[in-house]
Amino acid sequence: MQQLDNILKEARERLDAITTAAEAEEFRIRFLGKKSPLTEILRTLGSLSPEERKEVGMQANKARKEIETLFEEKNASLKAAQKQLLAQKERIDVTEPGVRHSLGARHPLTVTIQEISRIFMSMGYQIAEGPEVETVFYNFDALNAGPNHPARDWTDTFYISDDILLRTQTSPVQVRTLQAQEPPIRVISPGRCFRCDTPDATHSPMFHQIEGLVVGEGITMADLKGTLDTFAKEFFSKDAKTKFRPHHFPFTEPSAEMDVSCFKCGGKGCRVCKGSGWIEILGCGMVHPNVLKAGNLDTEKYTGFAFGMGVERIAMLRYGVEDIRLFYENDMRFIDQFK
Ligand code: DAH
Repeated sequence: MQQLDNILKEARERLDAITTAAEAEEFRIRFLGKKSPLTEILRTLGSLSPEERKEVGMQANKARKEIETLFEEKNASLKAAQKQLLAQKERIDVTEPGVRHSLGARHPLTVTIQEISRIFMSMGYQIAEGPEVETVFYNFDALNAGPNHPARDWTDTFYISDDILLRTQTSPVQVRTLQAQEPPIRVISPGRCFRCDTPDATHSPMFHQIEGLVVGEGITMADLKGTLDTFAKEFFSKDAKTKFRPHHFPFTEPSAEMDVSCFKCGGKGCRVCKGSGWIEILGCGMVHPNVLKAGNLDTEKYTGFAFGMGVERIAMLRYGVEDIRLFYENDMRFIDQFK
């Protein structure tokens, strides 16, 4: 009985001193394990008289119960303390400012293409597409650019083989569209073009154009002028004026170039318009009958107009970009300015 008292006393003292899970486990083995002094006592019960056995057995079990209860309490408080420690260590300060990730911006050429597309789509145009690797037929022959046309010279064109090239313009989409769709046709076609040019401030071997094509019955030059004037007023400013100068393209007859009154100075003359008050924006004209024929259309029944503009040129004028190469370098300090 004295031994039991000593065991209990020692167990209480030791439990009080425990601060870690490892110490707790050590305690469990020592006081509640198979080789603990308490187990030893229970094992010797057989050698006692029945009365003693009853008394000592009861006390020993009582002591074991108490140690178990105290041990469980200790364990629970250890766990709670550990949890709190963890919560403190991993605490998140929700008032601390976050790390900002900078958002990307659309490329100025993309912005320009989307803006121009939006204007024509609002006038009922659809987007047409054609391949960048094109045949000589669609890029030249079908567009009425005869075998001696200067643009066919190998210095201007990237040829892949005798009949395959990188398209030098988006105009081949005109013929592909005429072959694929029935009039009335109203399409624009933005895309990449390639010419064998040495890069400088205004030239790049890869650039973008937007082609336009309208074909139907009774389409006239007045439709062309009205449409492109409306576009200029939407895109540049509602006060923009347009003027059409005679020009030559093999695939249109008559052909013209359209100028817009300078959106910087309003027409008085400045650096952007080089003092003239006007800025050349696009080429256009009435679709040549030979092009309609290449598209298998009845030239007695149908007429149409077409136009083509350089996206880089328009974006440079609009954003005051002085070197075309800036568009392709993808320097974030340049791109980020168009957010
Ligand atoms: N394809 C011409 C070029 O690259 C631009 C052009 C002019 C397109 C007149 C047209 C047009 O559709 O009618 O210079």
